[in-house]
Amino acid sequence: MLDHYNRNINYLRVSITDRCNLRCTYCMPEGGVVLLSHNEILSFDEIVAFIKEAVSLGITKVRITGGEPLVRKGVVELVRMIAEIPGIEDLSMTTNAILMSQFAEPLWSAGLRRINVSLDTVDPNKFKQVTRGGDITNVINGLGMAKKIGFNPIKINCVIDKFSNEPDALAVKEFAISNGFDVRFIPKMNLEKGIFGQVEGGEGGNCASCNRLRLTANGLVKPCLFSDIGYSVRELGSREAIIKAIGIKPESGTINQKGKFYNIGG
Ligand code: 5AD
Ligand code: SF4
Repeated sequence: MLDHYNRNINYLRVSITDRCNLRCTYCMPEGGVVLLSHNEILSFDEIVAFIKEAVSLGITKVRITGGEPLVRKGVVELVRMIAEIPGIEDLSMTTNAILMSQFAEPLWSAGLRRINVSLDTVDPNKFKQVTRGGDITNVINGLGMAKKIGFNPIKINCVIDKFSNEPDALAVKEFAISNGFDVRFIPKMNLEKGIFGQVEGGEGGNCASCNRLRLTANGLVKPCLFSDIGYSVRELGSREAIIKAIGIKPESGTINQKGKFYNIGG
């Protein structure tokens, strides 16, 4: 479906949980966050019904995000349900890969073929610091397992302060290249202050060519990450919520004072 600026909205990002097993400093506040209750979170059937409606309105590309998608109970079953929806040409998942060594095989069997993995540094201590306690060994093993199982491409999302020649970024790039992974550099964003930049090596952050729509874990359809607007799938029904969101998709992002990365999925 075309929006008012003639952008073809064909890419849907679906956040399936606001929970995460890490606490990245730029994503989650130190003291933790108020999590959605079970009732607020869309069920698998609601998510699948939504995606089917979205596909009928022109979505061809779907990305599963979080929080951390692999902490949602039954995620493999959900991935299977989504992978079976006719009309999705490209299905992917953004994950921190902490649990990927266990999940790579079942996810592959469920029909997932490619993943993006968040990794900002290859230094174990720095990783522990940035993620407030994460063990990089799990990520490295997870990436290794995903590669072995056959996921392709595997893309590394590396959050940078400003420049892709920062020492951590250079080390991540080297690690990625030597393992056959792609790498993309994402400038650190601030939703509340409206600070965002273009993703180097990816498509994000370029408003003029933005083809995205987002579904939050609690069923809000968002036209833009940098906007407070969201239409409730439960109140309006999927079709109406999608049409409204596309209809109001702004020419470019401004600020978002309500949403956070961990519940919109970045
Ligand atoms: N700025 C840029 N990227 C962010 N992410 C989370 N918070 C931010 C932020 N403030 C990214 C993660 C991951 C994806 C889920 O969102 O690094 O790649
Ligand atoms: Fe979790 Fe990703 Fe946020 Fe880090 S950036 S806390 S891994 S959702």
